[in-house]
Amino acid sequence: MTPTRLVKLQIDANQVALPMIKSTAGADGIDISKLKASTGLVTMDPGFANTGSCVSSISLVDGDKGILRYRGYDIEELAAHCSFVEVAYLLIRGNLPNQQELHTWSERLNKHSLIHEDMKSFFNRYPPNAHPMSILSAMVTSLASFYPHIMQGDPNFDTTAARLIAKVRTIAAFSYKKSQGDPVVYPRQDLPYCANFLNMMFDSPVKSYVIVPEVIAALNQLLILHADHEQNCSTSAVRLVASSGANLYASIAAGISALWGPLHGGANQAVIEMLTSIQTNGGDVHHVIERAKDKTDPFRLMGFGHAVYKSYDPRAKITKQLCDTLLPKLNVHDPLLEIALELEQAALRDDYFVERKLYPNVDFYSGILYRAMGIPTNMLTVMFAIGRLPGWIAHWKEATESKDQKIWRPRQIYIGPTRQKFVAIDKR
Ligand code: ACO
Repeated sequence: MTPTRLVKLQIDANQVALPMIKSTAGADGIDISKLKASTGLVTMDPGFANTGSCVSSISLVDGDKGILRYRGYDIEELAAHCSFVEVAYLLIRGNLPNQQELHTWSERLNKHSLIHEDMKSFFNRYPPNAHPMSILSAMVTSLASFYPHIMQGDPNFDTTAARLIAKVRTIAAFSYKKSQGDPVVYPRQDLPYCANFLNMMFDSPVKSYVIVPEVIAALNQLLILHADHEQNCSTSAVRLVASSGANLYASIAAGISALWGPLHGGANQAVIEMLTSIQTNGGDVHHVIERAKDKTDPFRLMGFGHAVYKSYDPRAKITKQLCDTLLPKLNVHDPLLEIALELEQAALRDDYFVERKLYPNVDFYSGILYRAMGIPTNMLTVMFAIGRLPGWIAHWKEATESKDQKIWRPRQIYIGPTRQKFVAIDKR
């Protein structure tokens, strides 16, 4: 990070020169790390919406132009031409794999997909309606106990990453099977990543799962779209936990918890619940639009709006197109898709949404696609987590390898009482 220019900050009669950090694309930054030492002041930025927490070379979001790139490649090209496994390699290693590298990487993913047999008993202890996100985050933390050698500083990071990506897929499928009261299906060495996952989800002793190539292709695309999104809430959680020196599993578990919230990855579940309630209440989308605009009502249009995109989310464009092709192919007629299309049109015609530049985000159509594949509503955020995992791992690696890495410890502007005189209560 070589400062290129200086920015001058005037504080009363004093001037402070702050170095600027040049980006290769997107916003440049102003380095305020020495501001407190030189002026006694801290900056205030609720939600860190205007704060760069790190330098990164993994992904780029241009929210005004609707651009998303992983390691410089446009998301549209990656979704059209790559498998999720290739994109995971790209994010973690920094380059697309050649054929031999892809073969080795895929083998690693297959080899490490079993979870320790003792971990299986954990699933039995959860109540039948336990949310799979709570199981997933607990299981990922537990991996640190079962595979303690895979900690920070592991010399073979590829194996560590492959192990985690493979095992999370198995944990997700096992948690679904357990929630159904069905026997678990073990991973198969002969199946590629996405087919293996769907087989573990839907194969059963009474009915074999039939692999449909269009479903596999759509799942690859969805996971690619979820795979990274620079310093979002869950990735920031991963990097924050990593900054204390915590191991990979503990850091990823924090990311899973952050993703669960309905303002973030949990929005895909919330969208399906919202569309279902519109359907139950007779299909009137305008009532929901009015509620979303009402400032006395905490309700928001789920799957709409984004902290960074102020134009159409490129991922939502792809998922919308995918609905047009996948659902007819599978002969699925989902009334929720018609409601979603009508809701989008009504919102994009409404001044409230136009003025605030609120467009569908990645979560608006993705749930409809997952439903068409047979994935239940409470598993939707787990699907997002499976997709986001390579991104989290790449950020954990980048953060822990950075020579600029410091423990993340923001300041505050205190507004509580100043010193109070302590009076002990009479405990007799
Ligand atoms: N419905 C109604 N109004 C909205 C919505 C929405 N979905 N999103 C934003 N707004 C309004 C806000 O009320 C605010 O209005 P105001 O200026 O009159 O006060 C204005 O638009 C700006 O909103 P902010 O809250 O400042 O936007 P922010 O960038 O902080 O929030 C967020 C982004 C959290 C995604 C928000 O748009 C939202 O809650 N969306 C619904 C939940 C959702 O879909 N989340 C998934 C995001 S994608 C992802 O994380 C994977």
